[in-house]
Amino acid sequence: MKYLVTGAAGFIGFHVSERLLNAGHQVVGIDNLNDYYDVSLKQARLDRLVSPLFSFHKIDLADRVAMEALFASEKFDRVIHLAAQAGVRYSLENPHAYAESNLIGHLNILEGCRHNRVQHLLYASSSSVYGLNRKMPFSTDDSVDHPVSLYAATKKANELMSHTYSHLYGLPTTGLRFFTVYGPWGRPDMALFKFTKAMIEGKSIDVYNYGKMKRDFTYIDDIAEAIIRLQDVIPEANPEWTVETGSPATSSAPYRVYNIGNSSPVELMDYITALEEALGIEADKNMMPIQPGDVLNTSADTKALYEVIGFKPQTSVKDGVKNFVDWYREFYKV
Ligand SMILES: NC(=O)c1ccc[n+]([C@@H]2O[C@H](COP(=O)([O-])OP(=O)(O)OC[C@H]3O[C@@H](n4cnc5c(N)ncnc54)[C@H](O)[C@@H]3O)[C@@H](O)[C@H]2O)c1
Repeated sequence: MKYLVTGAAGFIGFHVSERLLNAGHQVVGIDNLNDYYDVSLKQARLDRLVSPLFSFHKIDLADRVAMEALFASEKFDRVIHLAAQAGVRYSLENPHAYAESNLIGHLNILEGCRHNRVQHLLYASSSSVYGLNRKMPFSTDDSVDHPVSLYAATKKANELMSHTYSHLYGLPTTGLRFFTVYGPWGRPDMALFKFTKAMIEGKSIDVYNYGKMKRDFTYIDDIAEAIIRLQDVIPEANPEWTVETGSPATSSAPYRVYNIGNSSPVELMDYITALEEALGIEADKNMMPIQPGDVLNTSADTKALYEVIGFKPQTSVKDGVKNFVDWYREFYKV
């Protein structure tokens, strides 16, 4: 199979590309290598993807001409679309980056899939679409119409845009709502990376909402495994489906949305304790109020995921954090 993986230099895209290559697939990776965070980390990930089956193009998703040319020349069987402007907090500072990468970029992916008969498009959504929802665990059967950040709104928009292409052109699309992904090669703008760096450097860490938050932290290998398995679960149209009787996660069109989370939320303070133990360093904690755009708790209902792939994420925070720390110490030689 020939795959397009967007965001191949990114945290999740790198891991997924590695898995596909190990399974003997051909992978074309794209990324614009933007400097939202350290570009040398993105380059180091790419440097690990050495295989005759891998090729890389530095392309911006929002570059319509380049994206059209890529799709026309490569003729992908399947597309795993993971490139995006990520981050909740940064969407308050630089909203236009989200419109470019996440809205225009997603449209270019949909158009490429439509015109080149791609068999299956999988794309990253986010647990942040649950916004003001309070019913726990978060279920894909519930409506998600009240996002609390522009980032979340663009991810919800991606689901809506995908539905129209599934409906109009019969393009099978699967949306993946990831829940706080962490692990080796992780993102420098996320808590685990920032905490680890600060603690090793003897600096204090900022703990938001005074630590009273729960996150359904999901280990990267579990995310990658779920994506690889979902590849083969190509959504089918269900003519029986109606808005009144069906779940919002399904449709009369070949469209599905899944949660990919650990379904065992952990208190932020317990996550920090796991990190303190893995590092052998006690954190100096600055207790801070909640940040605008943050949600208090997240928890994934993964029943639908388990039904279709017979797998759900389950790595414990203790093991996952330790693996991250081992990677961090080795990669940065600290
Ligand atoms: N990591 C998480 O906890 C998490 C949670 C929910 C959803 N997601 C989503 O999963 C996907 C992957 O996230 P990640 O954690 O790997 O983030 P990441 O930032 O490490 O990876 C995204 C990659 O996309 C690239 N990119 C961004 N804009 C681009 C553009 N316009 N053109 C081409 N490349 C572009 C970036 O350079 C980066 O390498 C994203 O869509 C993100 O929104 C991640």
